[in-house]
Amino acid sequence: MRSARYLRVLVCGILAVACSNRNRNSAASRVGGAHAVAITTPAPRTGEAAASSEPLVAAHDPSHPPIDCPLRKQGVDPAHLRPFEDTAQYIAFLERPDRATWQKPDAVVAALGLTGKETIVDIGAGSGYFSFRLARAVPKGKVIALDVEPEMIRHIHHKAMTEGVRNLQVALAKPDDPGVPAEADLVFMCDVLHHIQDRPPWLAKLAAQMHKGARLVLVEFKEGKLPEGPPEAMKLSRVQLQTLATGAGLMLDSEKPNLLPYQTFLVFRKPH
Ligand SMILES: C[S@@+](CC[C@H](N)C(=O)[O-])C[C@H]1O[C@@H](n2cnc3c(N)ncnc32)[C@H](O)[C@@H]1O
Repeated sequence: MRSARYLRVLVCGILAVACSNRNRNSAASRVGGAHAVAITTPAPRTGEAAASSEPLVAAHDPSHPPIDCPLRKQGVDPAHLRPFEDTAQYIAFLERPDRATWQKPDAVVAALGLTGKETIVDIGAGSGYFSFRLARAVPKGKVIALDVEPEMIRHIHHKAMTEGVRNLQVALAKPDDPGVPAEADLVFMCDVLHHIQDRPPWLAKLAAQMHKGARLVLVEFKEGKLPEGPPEAMKLSRVQLQTLATGAGLMLDSEKPNLLPYQTFLVFRKPH
């Protein structure tokens, strides 16, 4: 029993540092790789090994592939990221429990009318607030979480690994390229479009990347004095949103003006 508990702690510890790369050449940075066995397993107490029916398992299990750091694959050295405490605060802000009372994430996901097989791209995924919920809603599909912030990508990746969410992938986005793969059936953006710098060319690229019939869902804060949301000057009105999306060649498919108290919910589609 003790060796099994130790192994669980060991695996959790390895997952926690898998991407952080405090020491680029450390054994822990290559989870599941040959180096992982460099971490020594404590000797069992006298008689324990003989008494336990559980087989002793080496730290390296060939049936589980190594964690492949998505940041490293995209050329980002996680050692150069800013201190995690800053990002932890932002993650806590996005995940604050009272957000659900007005963000209504379950109602938002239900409003998408998913079949469960879609490929969804969550652009500007942040902490993965919607990514994880969307992944649960498409058990036979997948979610690709994109963000320009490597720390956010690292956070989502670790959470997906530790929680065993297998249909959630991550990738680092470029500020001027939505980076949506052609397989995407639905592109989801909650509170992101107002962060995009040069919106018309960015949306034109997005529309070009979407396949015909694919949907774009925009959730943005409504205008006017609200207890939540960005400063008024940063907001995009419903008319601006529609003008931007149709200007990129998408057509308005549906909208649910009363779904959320503080945000618009607009669905656009790429015409056939
Ligand atoms: C207000 S947060 C919203 C996070 C998440 N969608 C949610 O609802 O909790 C905006 C996110 O958009 C990301 N972002 C900003 N510009 C972006 C861009 N050009 N491409 C992808 N993500 C971007 C930011 O890094 C941030 O994580």
